[in-house]
Amino acid sequence: MILSQATASGKVILFGEHAVVYQRPALAAPVTQVKAMATLQTNEATDDFTIFAPDLNQHYRLQDVDQTNPIAVIIHATFQHLSQPIPPSVQLKISSNIPLGRGLGSGAAVSAAIARAIANVCKHQLPPHALSSLVYQVERLHHGTPSGIDNTVIAFEQPVYFIKHQPLRRLNVQRPFHLVIADTGVVAPTHQAVSGVRHRWQANRHRYETCFDQIGRLTEKARDIIEQEQADDALLGQLMDENQTILETIGVSSPDLQRLIGVARVNGALGAKLSGAGHGGTMIALAASQTAATDIADALSGAGAVGVITTIIN
Ligand code: PMV
Repeated sequence: MILSQATASGKVILFGEHAVVYQRPALAAPVTQVKAMATLQTNEATDDFTIFAPDLNQHYRLQDVDQTNPIAVIIHATFQHLSQPIPPSVQLKISSNIPLGRGLGSGAAVSAAIARAIANVCKHQLPPHALSSLVYQVERLHHGTPSGIDNTVIAFEQPVYFIKHQPLRRLNVQRPFHLVIADTGVVAPTHQAVSGVRHRWQANRHRYETCFDQIGRLTEKARDIIEQEQADDALLGQLMDENQTILETIGVSSPDLQRLIGVARVNGALGAKLSGAGHGGTMIALAASQTAATDIADALSGAGAVGVITTIIN
């Protein structure tokens, strides 16, 4: 019998990745086309709390995994937060169509869906800020030094203007815009890209701080445009291109990303950049209209992108 079920959407970073780890602002938005789902159901076959992830071909008992397992961490943290015991004879089923390790927030969305399902079954409210803190605990396992942007945008389910350790600000999108999101198919662990940047920053702080400042200024400008009544999509696209150039300078782009970014630009994108940690994963392109988005998406699929999503940021 199903006891409770909950979902959480993916996310996309629009501007400011990496620099956000160094206290600069970033913009991100939920991507509702992709979701993680957690289902809690009774399992009379055993007294244990079990986890079943058919997509990953995994089935195990909670008690058999250690405290570095992200799923175990979110389960324990959520029950503890709600001051509830972990129930026996229950199975947690996890499924997700958010590709893993591609900058679309798959880890944070799985954690958020699990925490929501547990809160539902305990008949407790889990306000977004509490959910975000719980998911952050798991993000620290994935990332090492996460900025907190993934858990924030996924828990609050709204476009955000985010600065680490500062109160969240909603990004007030005045005129919805079309975005094409394409996956290179290359799995790129976030912690590797983040620690690579950290090493290079340690070796050359002045240069990297300058790059982060530039990204911060572009992000602020992008926010101003997005929050204006008369949005200037051409300028927003140009800012994306400029952000991409700096991401290349700090060493987080890749030939696959650059190829898809090039394909998007020659097929009508107003601007394009990588999104998330880089070294693979996802790129995004700004489109002037739904028709333009479809054309860009077709071109990206034709060029070998593994998954292409068109979405509207609003
Ligand atoms: O998990 P991803 O690929 O969306 O990357 C997160 C964005 C970074 O800025 C690279 C890291 C962070 O913690 O903000």
